[in-house]
Amino acid sequence: MGLSTYSFKLPTRVEFGSGVINKVGQEAKALGATKVMIISDKGVINAGLVKPVEESLTAAGIDYMIFDHVVANPRITSCNEGAEIAKAEKVNFLVAVGGGSPMDTAKAIGTLLTHGKTVQDWCGDHLLEREITPLIAIPTTAGTGSEVTPFAVVTDTEAHKKLNIFDDRAAAKVALIDPGVLMNLPSHVMASTGVDALTHAVESYTCTVATPHTDAYALYAIELISKNIRDAVHTPTLENCTGMMLGSTIAGIAFGCADCAAIHCMAEAIGGRYDTPHGVSCAVFLPSISRYNVPSDTEKYANIAKALGINTFDMTLAEAAEAGIKELENICVDVGIPKFRDLKGVNVDDFPALAKASSENVSNGSNPRPISEEEYLRLFHQIYNE
Ligand SMILES: [Fe+2]
Repeated sequence: MGLSTYSFKLPTRVEFGSGVINKVGQEAKALGATKVMIISDKGVINAGLVKPVEESLTAAGIDYMIFDHVVANPRITSCNEGAEIAKAEKVNFLVAVGGGSPMDTAKAIGTLLTHGKTVQDWCGDHLLEREITPLIAIPTTAGTGSEVTPFAVVTDTEAHKKLNIFDDRAAAKVALIDPGVLMNLPSHVMASTGVDALTHAVESYTCTVATPHTDAYALYAIELISKNIRDAVHTPTLENCTGMMLGSTIAGIAFGCADCAAIHCMAEAIGGRYDTPHGVSCAVFLPSISRYNVPSDTEKYANIAKALGINTFDMTLAEAAEAGIKELENICVDVGIPKFRDLKGVNVDDFPALAKASSENVSNGSNPRPISEEEYLRLFHQIYNE
């Protein structure tokens, strides 16, 4: 049943529902905003999702500027650039609109504005000394969960490494979670981000720091995402988009209050080296690493099968666990996730460095079955050849 004593805290207030994006002006005003930096990327801006935010801020009489130099697998360099501009513009409030990259960039900018030094200085486990600049997060994908997590994952391009600010004080004050924004999401983005959310739920449910509270969120997230992901990718409706948005944000609460594990260690290693989209990086390892982890807690993996909608009545725990993993494989295939060996740039010569980065990831210790650097190396080769 996990830990006998634990704490559970939700650092972010959630406002959920169609149209909540239009409340950003009144929410920012109530939190004391006078000059807002909207942090987004060009794809989100071109999709028209920043327009309602601008209109709402204008209606509330709040001055704003837009910072759009955010890329996938956000760079420390763009966090530094955003912080310099925010300082010069006397920004006192941040609004992130987008997937994980704008939200994580916003958390890093908020950290630099309130703490100075470099982003690298604040990467680690609860190193912040005060709250960051107030942040409202508006997710436009159903994946990262960053709107409710205390994490900001950023890429140090020189070191080919992903680093993580992990601190409640870096979390958004308010998350405005509007499922309507998913309706025009490109299907490959719905697929990869949705599998990222599913991975958050599976890893938070099975990791060594899972608690009964996080288990409850994780299992329901697995149910919601698995029920809706295929339809949301192929024929999005407000109903299946609502299921995906709920699933991703509930999974975010689960892994924000527990942890992720080896799948994310490997995913962040390849994301830091090849710039692979984060959700795809997770998906290519999700089934095989889950199978590797089954002996650590077969019953939990059997419960995952049930949450995935499989009738496990006549199965042993081991059979149910394997049926669940087959379903994870089927989901990845059905939404068009490629194989690890087919990802752009993947080179077996890099596997020793990837294994080293995976073993050094702060979440490695949370994997339910211990994995050494040598074992990571073997798993990279195994999954490459599957
Ligand atoms: Fe993730």
